[in-house]
Amino acid sequence: MSTQETPPLRTNRSFVIREGRFTSAQKKAFGDLWPKYGIPTDDIETLIPHDWFVNNQPLILDVGFGSGDSLVSLAQQRPDLNFIGVEVYRPGIGAVLRKIDQQELENVRVINADAMQLLRSKFTADCLMGVMVWFPDPWPKTKHHKRRLVQEEFLQALVRVMQLNGILHLASDWQPYVKFMLKHVSKVKNFTPINPAKNPLKLERPPTRFEQRGLRIGHQVTDLIYKLQKGQNSRLVR
Ligand SMILES: C[S@@+](CC[C@H](N)C(=O)[O-])C[C@H]1O[C@@H](n2cnc3c(N)ncnc32)[C@H](O)[C@@H]1O
Repeated sequence: MSTQETPPLRTNRSFVIREGRFTSAQKKAFGDLWPKYGIPTDDIETLIPHDWFVNNQPLILDVGFGSGDSLVSLAQQRPDLNFIGVEVYRPGIGAVLRKIDQQELENVRVINADAMQLLRSKFTADCLMGVMVWFPDPWPKTKHHKRRLVQEEFLQALVRVMQLNGILHLASDWQPYVKFMLKHVSKVKNFTPINPAKNPLKLERPPTRFEQRGLRIGHQVTDLIYKLQKGQNSRLVR
């Protein structure tokens, strides 16, 4: 395989497609509002995310936004940034489209796809100033650890699409996953941990639905924040 070719996508997906409670309001929002706020990706080989916004502000990606409360809240708080949320869970997308429309937000767009595929091949290089992965599915059973999203393949895909000095913000209430993330991020030398109080994006994480659930059952929440280095002093460890 030449160095230009993308290696085959891993087969262990980090999600299971559930349409569970897809309410009629969410379905209607999906139908009515997708053309306004959705970014179609199925038939697109290369996506220039900035093309979908009215200005060229720094772009932040929320991976797996769930019901999207925190995505919408951030977009409201930070009109100086643009946001894209990517999610596979269509009821969540329906819910978030409704909230975006109610708030008339121009700085947030939504993608219905597997984040891994977007990051590995569709997004253009160096397009993201920040990436948030908040409370990714913990896949607690050992035999399912290979499904966890935050591991080397995902992190290496981020190195391609993130800008120099871009910020990666991970959060989890499942301490075994926190350890797993620490181990995997430490293998990708481009990411340097930074003190959350010194996050140059000054992006405060609003309480998310899954965080609240974790706190209710007594879990401790950990935030991990990294800055991306590129160039001679950084090295990808495979
Ligand atoms: C535990 S929920 C957390 C939701 C939200 N971030 C929060 O904190 O409330 C994880 C979400 O990630 C989504 N997800 C998992 N893997 C994904 C992938 N590869 N691409 C897009 N979304 C994914 C799931 O559908 C799920 O909604």
